[in-house]
Amino acid sequence: MCGIFAYLNYLEPKSRREILELLIKGLQRLEYRGYDSSGVAFDQNESNIEIIRCKGKVQALADTIWNRDDIDLDHQYQIHVGIAHTRWATHGAPSDLNSHPQRSDDNNEFVVVHNGILTNYKDIKKFLEKKNYTFESETDTEVIVKLIKHLHETHPKMKFRELVEQVSQQLEGAFAIVLKSKHFPGECVATRRGSPLLVGIKTKTNLVSDHIPIIYSNKDTHRSNLMKTNSLVGAKLARSNSTTEFVPYDEGKVVEYLFASDASAIIEHTNRVIFLEDYDVASIEDGRLTIHRIKRNLDGGDSLTREIMTLKMEIQQIMKGNYSSFMQKEIFEQPESVINTMRGRINFDNETIVLGGIKEFIPEIKRCRRLLLIGCGTSYHSIIATRQILEELTELPVMIELASDFLDRNTPIFRDDVCFFVSQSGETADTLMALRYCKQRSALIVGITNTVGSSICRESHCGVHINAGPEIGVASTKAYTSQVISLVMFALVMSEDRISMRPRRSEIIQGLKKLPEQIKQVLNLDQQVLEMSKELYQQKSLLLMGRGWNYSTVLEGALKIKELTYMHSEGILAGELKHGPLALIDDRMPVLTVVTRDSVYPKCMNALQQVMARGAHPILIAEEDDLETQKYSKRVLLIPHTVDCLQGILSVIPMQLLSYHIAVLKKCDVDCPRNLAKSVTVE
Ligand code: F6R
Repeated sequence: MCGIFAYLNYLEPKSRREILELLIKGLQRLEYRGYDSSGVAFDQNESNIEIIRCKGKVQALADTIWNRDDIDLDHQYQIHVGIAHTRWATHGAPSDLNSHPQRSDDNNEFVVVHNGILTNYKDIKKFLEKKNYTFESETDTEVIVKLIKHLHETHPKMKFRELVEQVSQQLEGAFAIVLKSKHFPGECVATRRGSPLLVGIKTKTNLVSDHIPIIYSNKDTHRSNLMKTNSLVGAKLARSNSTTEFVPYDEGKVVEYLFASDASAIIEHTNRVIFLEDYDVASIEDGRLTIHRIKRNLDGGDSLTREIMTLKMEIQQIMKGNYSSFMQKEIFEQPESVINTMRGRINFDNETIVLGGIKEFIPEIKRCRRLLLIGCGTSYHSIIATRQILEELTELPVMIELASDFLDRNTPIFRDDVCFFVSQSGETADTLMALRYCKQRSALIVGITNTVGSSICRESHCGVHINAGPEIGVASTKAYTSQVISLVMFALVMSEDRISMRPRRSEIIQGLKKLPEQIKQVLNLDQQVLEMSKELYQQKSLLLMGRGWNYSTVLEGALKIKELTYMHSEGILAGELKHGPLALIDDRMPVLTVVTRDSVYPKCMNALQQVMARGAHPILIAEEDDLETQKYSKRVLLIPHTVDCLQGILSVIPMQLLSYHIAVLKKCDVDCPRNLAKSVTVE
């Protein structure tokens, strides 16, 4: 939730206009993370910071900035720090005052942008109120800068980084923060715990090293209790030994730094990035970046350096191109994204599969007691979609779990369990918490994510990147199909030495081979789906029915329709119809049924007859050579036949298109549905 973006230019002259343009562009790239309000902080003059914040999307902020006639946009800076934020409200409604940057006081001495939730902000607020601090927003964030100001006043000699280190140790919950201060011009400090944050480095000369050393700030990890002692007595702060600092580029040379919640905002400036880890404190002073750590790992496996990674992402991958929205682009990218998921992994000639990220762990996985698959929303639906094939090909018990419910139940986990965490973003808080819960209980942790360097990636023992490419639209589409394929590939790997399963494996592998072409064929239904959407978009509700391999398809279809069109929609397991939902059916209730020629076909047909007998005129998704089923409705979307466990990949696409077209017809914001955010980093 929320997007953080910051830009620091050191000895690289930039006008205020260029800096503001850069900050706004960065926010627009992150807008999928939250879009109810946004703001920027930049230098007003030598000694003051200006904050501009406003309710609404980033464009509203841009309009506000460009309409101000009191800002000298041509003013040049040799060195400057700008911080920016796009918000998804958690504490306090979207409003100008609740937007970030939040400030320490009327003089904007310290300003912060924050992604996450502070669980102990009320205690800190109470403490500060006793010290006569007054609060202007309803946010949890405001306490951060007020506590820093308090500490600065009591310890005026402390460096900016040390202030942030001390204060961050008082914070509980999840956060990624970036700060600037009028007392420390040209400096920027950032830290994280639980929320993602990366630093991009742009230099005119080549970096001289791919690593940056880590400085451990505190010898022990005792938390100084700033609030109890009311001072820093007991705060064992070790001053860093600056001789150990090392700059991976020629000193005194031009350098630009970017901080962002994810790489999509950085890639157009540089592909050299450092993914910060929890408890890292990155600070930039005199153009030099240092990374300090305020906590040692419990297992003693502390890294000595952080790697400066080279991102492989291309800017075109995150541009909309000729599409009207990212979601539409991502739906139409699926023939290619599924190839990328399989690329280099499946050898279709000798029917072998290698998943490099989990290869070494396969013997251990084969010995496990059970497989648990955990995720949220669409990622959970990909788990439902593949449960049956996992049970069939692994012959292991497979438990599937919604991460939030799994945590609520304190589910028993054993060291011989293998737990899969499926997440497009790799940052979903519920999934990440469930991962940590299972890791603490010594289970083997397998991450299935789309985001390299994400928390779930880093905290897993092993994993599979689904390689679907950046997914920007809030509604997940191509990640779903790639998640399903990744899990199917895993099931195939698990059964590779089972002779009895050879024909089945071969059928699936050949099915996977044909899939990209078949997806293209399904995408040709677009115009037909648009026509159906015109009939449906003014309805109040839409019921989707399916069973077996297509139960997950209807759950996923209903989720897409709800989130994009705000229309009520329910995915019903066709077998449950007679146990209640049938009462909803009459001649006015719109119903869409998926009927494919698999083992549950006769049962699906029964359900279809039952709804038709109650006057409903269902839309059907059926297979193109199933002439029999096509007779049941005038409105049929015909999809190619594939092997049963892959059929859901083809049948979900018309539903993605349907939700997209209905949303456009209803004039909803396709890429940024109301109340949602792409990366749900709050529990
Ligand atoms: C729906 C959607 C969400 C996500 C869910 C989990 O279109 O995108 O339901 O699937 O929030 O997100 P990840 O996969 O990032 O863990």
